[in-house]
Amino acid sequence: MRKKIVAGNWKMNLRLEEGMKLSSEIVEFVKNNPLDSLAGKPEVVMFTPFVHLTSVAEVIAGVKGVAVGAQNCYTEEKGAFTGEVSADMIESTGATHVLVGHSERRSYFGETDEVLAKKTEVALKNRLTPVFCCGEVLDERNAGKHFDVVKEQLHKGLFWLSEDEFSKIVIAYEPVWAIGTGVTASPEQAQEMHAYIRQIIAEKYNAVTADQTTILYGGSCNAKNAAELFANNDVDGGLIGGASLKADDFCTIIKSF
Ligand code: PGA
Repeated sequence: MRKKIVAGNWKMNLRLEEGMKLSSEIVEFVKNNPLDSLAGKPEVVMFTPFVHLTSVAEVIAGVKGVAVGAQNCYTEEKGAFTGEVSADMIESTGATHVLVGHSERRSYFGETDEVLAKKTEVALKNRLTPVFCCGEVLDERNAGKHFDVVKEQLHKGLFWLSEDEFSKIVIAYEPVWAIGTGVTASPEQAQEMHAYIRQIIAEKYNAVTADQTTILYGGSCNAKNAAELFANNDVDGGLIGGASLKADDFCTIIKSF
C-alpha cells in the first residue's frame, strides 16, 4: 500500500510564533485523532519557511506520522552562495522533506528542469524526501498539451534517477491554473492526470514502482473538495496552500480520505 500524505505549503506566510501556534494546533489534533486510526492512515507534512523549521521540528517531535519540510533548497552543497540554504542545513533542523519545482519557483525564480534535477539530487543525497511538483499552465491545458508538459517535466526532472532513488520521491501534480485561484481541477481531471503519471512511471521504471509512488494533488484543494479528490484511485493526498494556514480546515482535510 502506497503512502497517503496531506501536506501543507505555508508559502511566505506566518511569523514564527504564528507558525508555532498553527503547528501546535495540528499536533493537538493528531494526538486526539491518531493518524493510524483515520481512513487512509495519512502522514502529515508541513512545508514551512526556512526560519520556522527548527521550531516546528521541536513542536512535532515524537508525534508519529507528522513531519516538517522546506519549500526549497539550493543546488550546491555548501560555500559562497550568500542567502541560500543547503539541503544538508535543512536536514540538520530535523526537517525530512523538501519541495522541488513548485510552480512559483519555476515561474518567479526561473527554475528550469535542469536546476530541479540538481535540487532533487542534492536533496536525496542529504536524506530528504523530495516532493517534486509538476503541472501545466492554462494555455497548455486549453491547447491539449497538458500530458506532454507534465511528461517532459518528469522526464527532465526525475526520470534520470535510478529505480532505487526514484522510489524515494513523492510527486505533486499541481495544475498552475488551479493554484491559489479557487478553481480546482475536477476529480475526473485530477484522476486522469494522476493515472497518466502512474502510467509513464510504469513505462520508465516498472509497474511495482509506479504502484508504490505517492502522487498528491495540489491547487485550491480545501476542506470542502478534498474528500471527492482523495476518493480517486490514483490521488494519494494533497499539497495544500491557502487552506493549510487554518488548523480547522487543514485538519478537516487530514480526515478527508
Ligand atoms: P493553493 O496552493 O492550495 O493555495 O491553491 C497549492 C500550492 O501552491 O501548493
